[in-house]
Amino acid sequence: MEKDTVKLSASLLSADISRLGEQVAEAERAGVDRLHADVMDGRFVPNLAAGMPGVTGLRRMSRLPLETHLMISDPDFFLEGFAEAGSDTLLVHWEGNNNLSRTVEHVKALGKRVGVVINPATPASVLEEILPEIDQVLVMTVNPGFGNQKFMQGMLPKIRRVRRMIEELHPGCDLEVDGGIRPATAALVVEAGANVLAAGSAIFGDAEGVTAGVQRLRESISRAGLSRA
Ligand code: DX5
Ligand code: ZN
Repeated sequence: MEKDTVKLSASLLSADISRLGEQVAEAERAGVDRLHADVMDGRFVPNLAAGMPGVTGLRRMSRLPLETHLMISDPDFFLEGFAEAGSDTLLVHWEGNNNLSRTVEHVKALGKRVGVVINPATPASVLEEILPEIDQVLVMTVNPGFGNQKFMQGMLPKIRRVRRMIEELHPGCDLEVDGGIRPATAALVVEAGANVLAAGSAIFGDAEGVTAGVQRLRESISRAGLSRA
């Protein structure tokens, strides 16, 4: 993946909620390409995070493309709400969804981009039939539910495989990764074929601040691009 085509999506899960507006503005000034809102229901994952008011608030803070990662059971009940809240992309998990195709169609009918997320234990092969229908794949590189977890190296072959599937079945489909992305791992996932990197703690938990966090990720991505040239 060419370095200048790689997009950074800032996951707000690790942001300081008491000054969320400032943090979003700083990430935007530092050059992130998208915002990533994590929604958790305490059932699909063992944690709680955000909801429609959170997404509505984010939408008011920034014009950056906003992707909403739905780590919730029965996402179909909530698609309209998250669309109306201002999401540009709705990311729904493959796991636990008996009617993924219907969910995908529903998101499209709402006029939004749609992405399908697969957890670490889920093989790339489940994407084969749905891939031509979607705008984005998100490969989880940690088990979902928490920020600041360790990147799972074992996901790299899967990222390569999904990249090959995309080239064959739906060129132009985004390949995003989420979980444990920091400077050292950003280069690895870009080399494996990811073109959108969601990062939370590497941006909002950087000791030197948000701008420094974004710059470190960008430098790592650039180096990955150069090493492939
Ligand atoms: C985890 C979330 C991620 C999370 C990533 O379940 O989906 O978006 O914020 O956090 P980091 O980048 O700290 O691993
Ligand atoms: Zn996420």
